[in-house]
Amino acid sequence: MAYNVPKLADFSPAGLETAARELLGALEAEASSVGNETEWKVFRDRWMARKNGVLTLLNDLWLKAAPPESKREVGQRVNQLKTRVEGCVEAALKKVQGGAVGSQLLAERVDITLPGIRRPRGAEHPVIKTLNEIVSVFRDLGYSVEQGPVVETDYYNFEALNFPPHHPARDMQDTLFIAGQGAKAQRDRLLLRTHTSPVQIRTMEKMKPPLRIVIPGKVHRNDPPDASHSPMFHQVEGLAVDTNITFADLKGTLDHAMKSLFGSSVKTHFRPSFFPFTEPSAEMMVTCFICGGSGRRGADPCRPCKTTGWIEILGCGMVDPNVFEFVKDNGYDPKKVSGFAFGMGADRIAILKYGVDDIQLFFNGDVRFLEQWR
Ligand code: PHE
Repeated sequence: MAYNVPKLADFSPAGLETAARELLGALEAEASSVGNETEWKVFRDRWMARKNGVLTLLNDLWLKAAPPESKREVGQRVNQLKTRVEGCVEAALKKVQGGAVGSQLLAERVDITLPGIRRPRGAEHPVIKTLNEIVSVFRDLGYSVEQGPVVETDYYNFEALNFPPHHPARDMQDTLFIAGQGAKAQRDRLLLRTHTSPVQIRTMEKMKPPLRIVIPGKVHRNDPPDASHSPMFHQVEGLAVDTNITFADLKGTLDHAMKSLFGSSVKTHFRPSFFPFTEPSAEMMVTCFICGGSGRRGADPCRPCKTTGWIEILGCGMVDPNVFEFVKDNGYDPKKVSGFAFGMGADRIAILKYGVDDIQLFFNGDVRFLEQWR
């Protein structure tokens, strides 16, 4: 039975004592029946709520109603009871919370003797691995590493590399343009860079000659995906500028790099080509390291080199004086400096190195393929 504060008829010490004992008995009984926090709140409010809580009622029904000569006595009693009620309500809360904490601990208990959760070991992506290997060959030659933005302006991707606006040489690289750039001047229009060569210009703008840099990075072209094409692929660019750099430096450097990458028996071969930003320009071939240059694998034709025994690996050439004109003010006077540049497709090299037959495998995220490089 829930306790109700009675009106007091008898304010004598004995009468107060009886009423107080009755109240405390009820308090204890109710406190011991509180089993959880919700019940505890009801309990607390019944006893301590400002409005109509037992303590408030004690004030009204006992203290205020007491005759003047008993006020003191009743006041003391009510204060004592108040302290008891507060203490009891607090203790009841501890009791229910203690129980909850206990069961939570039990539920979250761990057996530290069980074996741990094994984290799967990651693998370096074969293309990134190849990029790093190529870069480190050039680092060993004293080259430093530069990078540039993948979303590039027409100026850096084409114009400053001696592709004039509307020049048909731009058709060599089928470009993905960012939409909605029509209001800008052509040189400021954004596109996905089609090669890492724009970083040549960006670097020459901020660093004076002599310069030796490699530029690994991601590039895009509007090429439909197939076994050997991807609209996104990777290049490593190189640029060396100094006084008296000659084509012999270019050949020697690249020949050394290919031997470091593919083995010392690899031979290189240069064949004339065209790039707007190099003059003269060349494509470099290496002996096919699948068939060793024979064009055959046993009785079968060697597919990677199409039986020619040679694989085209990069484009290169001597930096065109017209390119230096764009950065002349930073010390690149075409009458004083010369340089060579090259750019190679890292994905293609990775395909050849690892004998992968479809470039798409690199990018479709199949862990079963990628974990082979663990
Ligand atoms: N940027 C050229 C390409 O992507 C490659 C290249 C780089 C050629 C540097 C010459 C010098 O095809």
